[in-house]
Amino acid sequence: MSIPGLHKSFTRKNGVLHAEGVSLEKLAAKHDTPLFVYSRQAIEERCREVTTAFAAPRCRAFFSVKCNGNQSILGLVRKIGLGADIVSGGELFRAKQAGFTGEDIVFAGVGKRDEEIAAALRFRIKSFNVESIPELKKIDKIARKLNRKARISIRVNPDIDAKTHKHITTGTSANKFGLLIKEALKAGALIKGMKGVELNGLHFHIGSQITDPGPFVRTAKYARKCVAEFGRIGLEVRVLNFGGGFGVSYDGRQVTPVSIFARQVLGELAAIDQEVFIEPGRYIAAPSALLLTRVVYRKEAGKRVFLILDSGMNDLIRPVLYQAYHHIEPVRKRPGRKEKVDVVGPICETGDTFARERLLPRLEEGELLALTCAGAYCASMASNYNARPRPAEVLVSGTSAKVIRKRESYKDLVRLES
Ligand SMILES: Cc1ncc(COP(=O)(O)O)c(C=O)c1O
Repeated sequence: MSIPGLHKSFTRKNGVLHAEGVSLEKLAAKHDTPLFVYSRQAIEERCREVTTAFAAPRCRAFFSVKCNGNQSILGLVRKIGLGADIVSGGELFRAKQAGFTGEDIVFAGVGKRDEEIAAALRFRIKSFNVESIPELKKIDKIARKLNRKARISIRVNPDIDAKTHKHITTGTSANKFGLLIKEALKAGALIKGMKGVELNGLHFHIGSQITDPGPFVRTAKYARKCVAEFGRIGLEVRVLNFGGGFGVSYDGRQVTPVSIFARQVLGELAAIDQEVFIEPGRYIAAPSALLLTRVVYRKEAGKRVFLILDSGMNDLIRPVLYQAYHHIEPVRKRPGRKEKVDVVGPICETGDTFARERLLPRLEEGELLALTCAGAYCASMASNYNARPRPAEVLVSGTSAKVIRKRESYKDLVRLES
């Protein structure tokens, strides 16, 4: 049986959880905890699932660097042929370092600064996903100064509710992202008179962790209307970029695979022939990793039992940020009766709680646990809060494990300070 929240490359062998051919007990003994553990097979298979569903030559996928920008992970994704979706100068740097070319990169984000725009222009990126008219004017100005022509996709806010958590809904008129169609058409008209930019396409990204293809299909339908409206003002739209957002299963329940999203979205676009871009992050990375952690104390307080871990919200913030569920799996199988426990971190915040009243086998001090589905928006959101060095990360491939990010040291905590 597969482990909830994880790709099938994570299995139990002789009662012990393994990433591919490597025991998590051995990894903990060698690298200590907390430790992010990735499976190469998982990342590669999830990438291929996406690129098969949204297949070339019509489609291209750009991996969303914000969900996980580790150099080794980006390297794996690049080798399979995905591009990179970035949102900052830092992510541009990460993508360049990992070997992506300008043609591989699309750049979204509502607050692009002058120097970030200039760096992206110098690197000749494939497209700026423009989120406002002031940003469009800024890109035109900087491009003219650098004697470049920026390729632009206007990010259209379709005012479609993706029916996901409110903090990761991006495509309604209440959100800060993109331009409503009226404004987008105004931006289009401006582009016609600009020398530093050219219209490449339209961009839509309605949210993250979307499990129902319905909102995507409505967006595709809406995109067709937008293409027609841009056509009416004499602007050809060559690319439709639908962003990311394909949801994953955090709890083991079946979710709609990306192939179904692709079939329905591409079906909706059958009568037109624009190129189709997507920007998946979570779908590829989330089930490809777990966070390995140890019970520091088992604390009994009245009727409650707290399992206090050596990992906290600074390593994995999703439960406190989005009330997100992460499955918790003991590394060594524990038969016997289960009990309700609160699984918490060591940080001085009540929000530092991974699970409340979770049913788990009785676990003692020193035992190892895995928080599953931890490959996206976990390590990339980690912080040093409470002066905690960030965890190490390892990538398992078959029977070997490579450190792809060293554990931070106490010295690292003060390195940039005086
Ligand atoms: C513009 C854009 N593209 C792609 C993504 C990736 O989304 P996901 O990780 O849900 O696929 C995001 C994340 O919210 C985003 O803002």
